[in-house]
Amino acid sequence: MFYEPKKGNPFKIDPFKSLIFPRPIGWISSISKNGVANLAPYSYFNAVADEPPQVMFCSNGSSTYGKYKDTLSNILFTNEFVVNFATSATKNKMNISSGDFKPDEDEFILSNLKKKKSKLVKPPSVKDSPVNLECKLVKIIKLKTNSKKISTMVIGEVIGIHINNNFIKKNRVDSVSMRYIARMGYSEYTTIASKFSLKRKS
Ligand SMILES: Cc1cc2nc3c(=O)[nH]c(=O)nc-3n(C[C@H](O)[C@H](O)[C@H](O)COP(=O)(O)O)c2cc1C
Repeated sequence: MFYEPKKGNPFKIDPFKSLIFPRPIGWISSISKNGVANLAPYSYFNAVADEPPQVMFCSNGSSTYGKYKDTLSNILFTNEFVVNFATSATKNKMNISSGDFKPDEDEFILSNLKKKKSKLVKPPSVKDSPVNLECKLVKIIKLKTNSKKISTMVIGEVIGIHINNNFIKKNRVDSVSMRYIARMGYSEYTTIASKFSLKRKS
């Protein structure tokens, strides 16, 4: 099968997102200009550089309550955010936090999640996340869109990294034991539960 996305596709549901997987989920906390904490998952998310460490996510579309989704509005105002990670233990809370809530509603409270004070930025971190990446905004990039839908890429520099000590073994990070979940297509997810190593030949 071959198709050109700009001409449509032969499926009932556009399969694009089920072809690029697993996508890590940046569970992004931010804070509004009124000081209300916000939390939402973004699977158009990844690490993009390491010297200095930088991450990106894309906010696609608007919220019911404004031109931008709350996460983007908040970051445009405060220049700060935290990337948290959902695990098999917090997957249902992550799902609740993806609701289209009003800007003055705190998804930490709605999802019954504990906050942890971040060290270098104002937005709180998710206490139950094995890792928290405290970020400062580096760049906003407006992406191409076919419609009036807004598509905005946010790039942030990771200025503080918290790793739960339970996941540090013999001076290395034991990533698999964190049980991160990742996004596939449709409503499908996967849990990262196995690994293998390949040494690069020099
Ligand atoms: C697993 C998952 C991944 C998501 N990834 C994205 C994404 O990459 N970009 C996006 O705009 N929305 C994404 N969403 C939808 C947002 O989480 C949703 O629109 C949310 O209400 C945005 O919250 P906010 O307005 O507080 O930022 C995702 C939802 C889920 C459940």
